Amino acid sequence: MESLVNILLVVHVVAAMTMAWPYYALAAVNQRVALGPPLGDRTDRYMENILKNRTIACFVFQGTILIGGFLLIWARVQSTPLTYADFFGDWAIIAKIAILLVMAGMLSWVYFSVQPVIDRLFGDYGELDEAAKKQIMALRVRRKKMASVCMFLAFTAAVLGVESAVGFPAWLTAALVAAVALWAWRSYSSRTAYGWV
Ligand code: HEM
Repeated sequence: MESLVNILLVVHVVAAMTMAWPYYALAAVNQRVALGPPLGDRTDRYMENILKNRTIACFVFQGTILIGGFLLIWARVQSTPLTYADFFGDWAIIAKIAILLVMAGMLSWVYFSVQPVIDRLFGDYGELDEAAKKQIMALRVRRKKMASVCMFLAFTAAVLGVESAVGFPAWLTAALVAAVALWAWRSYSSRTAYGWV
């Protein structure tokens, strides 16, 4: 049972690492902004294809974290004196479940509502009228904001993951979450050439 806990923990942490995707998506999007016009050529097709082809993978990784997280709780209860109440009474675990559901909701919104409109406006790529350009740019800004919120939530969940496993004071949790917020903001507004800034 101990080995099962370890395997589940490794799967959980590796799946959590895949949640870094919004950070890299923001890097790609910021490069597209720096490139400037024209809008609608092969560069946009390339970027849109990369972004939309990650969505299903993202759902799979989110599902892995959620189902794996519950399995981890089950396995830990079987192999240690800890009880379900210890886990479900832990605010950090509850916050992580809520964060994951919010992230899945945001991803669904982009997948079902935003992306199909962007795809329709781009059509087969090529010349675009001014109205379509304006709409695409507005939707891209909205999607980019969503990605930075997603990045913030994912790394906040990582902070809470370590907090629930190790346990540290509230001030440290607050300081780390503030640092995550700052980093998400930098990733939204700059090319973060040095990674953290
Ligand atoms: C984006 C969402 C999540 C991220 C980034 C995340 C990340 C992490 C990390 C980094 C750890 C620490 C591992 C360690 O230091 O040993 C952890 C532990 C854990 N997570 Fe998550 N997690 C997420 C969601 C969830 C969910 C939804 C659940 C429950 C359904 C969950 C249950 C657990 C449990 C039970 C542990 C082990 C705690 C312990 O060993 O006492 N996690 N998580």
